[in-house]
Amino acid sequence: MAGNSFGQIFKITTFGESHGKALGAVIDGCPSGIALEAGDFVEAMERRRPGKSSFETPRSEEDRVEILSGVFEDVTTGTPLTLLIGNRDVKSKPYGVLKDLFRPGHADYTYFRKFGHFDYRGGGRSSARETAARVACGVVARKMLAPLGISILGHTLEVGGIRARKMDPSVIHQNPLYCADMEAVKGMLSALDAAGKEGDSLGGVAEVLVRGCPAGLGEPVFDKLDAELAKAVMSVGAVKGVEVGAGFDAARLKGSENNDPITSKGFSSNNSGGILGGISNGDDLVLRAAIKPIPSIMKPQKTIDRKGRDAVLELTGRFDVTAVSRIVPVLEAMVAIVLADHYLRASAIEQDFGA
Ligand SMILES: Cc1cc2nc3c(=O)[nH]c(=O)nc-3n(C[C@H](O)[C@H](O)[C@H](O)COP(=O)(O)O)c2cc1C
Repeated sequence: MAGNSFGQIFKITTFGESHGKALGAVIDGCPSGIALEAGDFVEAMERRRPGKSSFETPRSEEDRVEILSGVFEDVTTGTPLTLLIGNRDVKSKPYGVLKDLFRPGHADYTYFRKFGHFDYRGGGRSSARETAARVACGVVARKMLAPLGISILGHTLEVGGIRARKMDPSVIHQNPLYCADMEAVKGMLSALDAAGKEGDSLGGVAEVLVRGCPAGLGEPVFDKLDAELAKAVMSVGAVKGVEVGAGFDAARLKGSENNDPITSKGFSSNNSGGILGGISNGDDLVLRAAIKPIPSIMKPQKTIDRKGRDAVLELTGRFDVTAVSRIVPVLEAMVAIVLADHYLRASAIEQDFGA
């Protein structure tokens, strides 16, 4: 199975499965001199962790990140940084029903077709648990970006068709959905409650905003910043669409409405989402991800067994009603990783010309 690495200079490789001994990441190309200790990971890991509210799976991993290499006296050394996260709350029994049946909407069927097997105990590499390693890498990327004045904020824009109408950053971390509109949270929570009672799940939209991004990040033509962000975001399970700036709405605007006027004080609108020609323009980056309803639902579903015979899947065990809020910190991490990588790539070019 290839495809476990991402990035060019700030290059992450994640490893491990949902129900294996541990998972983690190696960051190659992490600059030296970043202050880093195990405590730095606690807050971000806690935000991704399930089981914080009634509509999330009660699997309760501590998600403690252990630094195995690349740090000396609490500072990165520039050598490969290895981060390890143990799997402690491993309960494989509820997954027994999945031994022979493929979960519709999940990766079981395609893993089986490609590899000839699938890890029925929670999905193995396709499990959301893999994203814990990404969040850990994101912590390091953000520590690199923070002194440069680059900050990243994710929030839930929509759940089950109910959309936030306000953007109040002060409330994002005061509700379990990481939504910036408390009125919308009420509607979202009752929609989740109703779907959960029916044994069903809901999708939604998450948005990530980047403030302080300098102009000049992104490498035309195949490594455009928007192309890299789209790949990073689409690589997260359950993400089915990515928009930058006005996104799909741009298709319905006239050029005169969509173009962001350039003034001596900067851009007077931001339909571009802060990227033109694949290069950051110095404005805020704005991107959104469409997230599908999570596949593991309690309703009986038509499927087949490993031999291709028709069957009905009836799940019991620990399953979420939505993944949107848990995906918010994962998207922040992926955006941070892309920006750290492109910042280092841009610096490398500048150094070449400066010499
Ligand atoms: C943070 C996060 C949490 C998720 N939680 C669940 C879950 O509890 N149950 C589930 O069936 N899928 C969950 N998913 C989605 C599956 O991982 C995903 O649908 C599956 O791997 C198939 O990939 P695809 O949806 O991208 O095609 C979650 C994904 C993420 C990123």
